[in-house]
Amino acid sequence: MTSHLSPGESFLIHGGSSGIGTFAIQIAKHLGIKVFVTAGSEEKLAACKGLGADVCINYKTEDFVARIKEETNGKGVDVILDNIGGSYLQRNLNSLAVDGRLFIIGFQGGAVTEVNLQPMLARRLTIQAAGLRNRSLDNKALIVSEVEKNVWPAVVEGKVKPVVYKTFPLSEAAEAHKLMEESSHIGKILLIP
Ligand SMILES: NC(=O)c1ccc[n+]([C@@H]2O[C@H](COP(=O)([O-])OP(=O)(O)OC[C@H]3O[C@@H](n4cnc5c(N)ncnc54)[C@H](OP(=O)(O)O)[C@@H]3O)[C@@H](O)[C@H]2O)c1
Repeated sequence: MTSHLSPGESFLIHGGSSGIGTFAIQIAKHLGIKVFVTAGSEEKLAACKGLGADVCINYKTEDFVARIKEETNGKGVDVILDNIGGSYLQRNLNSLAVDGRLFIIGFQGGAVTEVNLQPMLARRLTIQAAGLRNRSLDNKALIVSEVEKNVWPAVVEGKVKPVVYKTFPLSEAAEAHKLMEESSHIGKILLIP
């Protein structure tokens, strides 16, 4: 992974019960990483715990920055996987340890914000972001081969299992979108052609 997340490090996953989050928790635990998650309900946090998450934070009732500081003796986490973007940027920077890395994959909290960059200099932080859509076919093929090499063995061994909440035929894509917008799901919503 671009963030160089390594065994023994700590990793905060926002939206731990999401399609992405449920997979990220399992692969990180498989690699020997301490996992922190945020989610919006006790049911979702219990699911994250069941998948191996070590520290589960309800972002609706708790201040995640304060809880991370408390759980890490004031140090912060090494890497954050963030699907929120703008509205979390300051709090994410405040939650990172020295040499910490923030990896942004979504803007559910907007793409525009104002931020105090001081923590970046003080703690040598890195902000990265990436998407899949605008990549060349060659680059996508490279990603698939890296996944085959580094992730697939854990899936074959049953150490990492996709969490599927519900499947829909392609003709019912609108229903699937409606379910995703309601955001009561835990894991992936699949469309089957
Ligand atoms: N860059 C890329 O390559 C890439 C690839 C795939 C997906 N994505 C992005 O990654 C994100 C997740 O995708 P997904 O398929 O896993 O979607 P998803 O299953 O719908 O997950 C979205 C999650 O965000 C949670 N959430 C919303 N506000 C939150 C907050 N303030 N703090 C913590 N969690 C919050 C929701 O649950 P609760 O609020 O109820 O906890 C829900 O679990 C999306 O933004 C998607 O666009 C990016």
